[in-house]
Amino acid sequence: MAEIIDGKALAAKFKWELAGQIQELSGRFNSRPGLATVLVGGNPGSIVYIRNKITACREAGIEAFDHHLPATTAEAELFSLIDSLGKNPKVHGILVQLPLPDHLSASKILDILPQAKDIDGFTKANWGKLFHAKTPAELTDCFIPCTPLGVLKMLESAGINPEGKLACVVGRSNIVGKPMAHLLMLHNATVTLCHSKTPNIADVIRQADIVIAAIGKPRFVKESMVKEGACVIDVGVNRLADGKLAGDCDFEGVKNKAACISPVPGGVGPMNIAMLLANTFKAWQKMEA
Ligand code: GUN
Repeated sequence: MAEIIDGKALAAKFKWELAGQIQELSGRFNSRPGLATVLVGGNPGSIVYIRNKITACREAGIEAFDHHLPATTAEAELFSLIDSLGKNPKVHGILVQLPLPDHLSASKILDILPQAKDIDGFTKANWGKLFHAKTPAELTDCFIPCTPLGVLKMLESAGINPEGKLACVVGRSNIVGKPMAHLLMLHNATVTLCHSKTPNIADVIRQADIVIAAIGKPRFVKESMVKEGACVIDVGVNRLADGKLAGDCDFEGVKNKAACISPVPGGVGPMNIAMLLANTFKAWQKMEA
């Protein structure tokens, strides 16, 4: 039976450690870290994520500036909000919750977000720094996207060093798959990035010591696709027809074969939020120090 990697408990530990550091530094800086969240429209999943992010900010001592715009918001209006948040000295991080409604281009919006406030690590300016780095030590100058950063912390907490391991990232998204593969490579894993068009995907996944499931398909990774003793991190959050949440792994099956596995809910989700707090703290420190 696999060890369960408790993302919820680990995230709480990070949050309270950060709260202590924020409390200590806020006297010296005479300010508090500030995060502006921007949500456009009423995607039910995004509403819950934003609510949880704002609650976590407040618990950690980060000021949250909550902007919820209607789904019909014009591009110019959103640009103008981001411009004003970029100039606001109380705002150290700006988070534009994705996905955006179809008439808005995430790529164009991310182009005008100042890199110094890009706590999601999604802008092209940040990616330039992220993907140029040849060692983890060279990442101090950029923001590591929250979900992949959370996954690295979960591996660390389970005592898994990626060095020398075969890692398989399942899914090639900009938010998770692509930066995840790069980060594992920086930590000296040998990385395969597979996706919906990979032939014999089960055979590829079965080679891996570390499996990161981020393909966005409920219970896609089955027990039969996983090597005995592998470490499996499940990034998927899929809402099923019955309203329940399911990850990208068949947890009940895979846990019989894996050495460790993260659950959904209570795995990567809370760690994404904890890393958002950590990145906001980093942005604040850089601006105020
Ligand atoms: N949508 C899903 N995950 C994320 C995330 O980490 N940040 C933002 N901004 N949007 C998301």
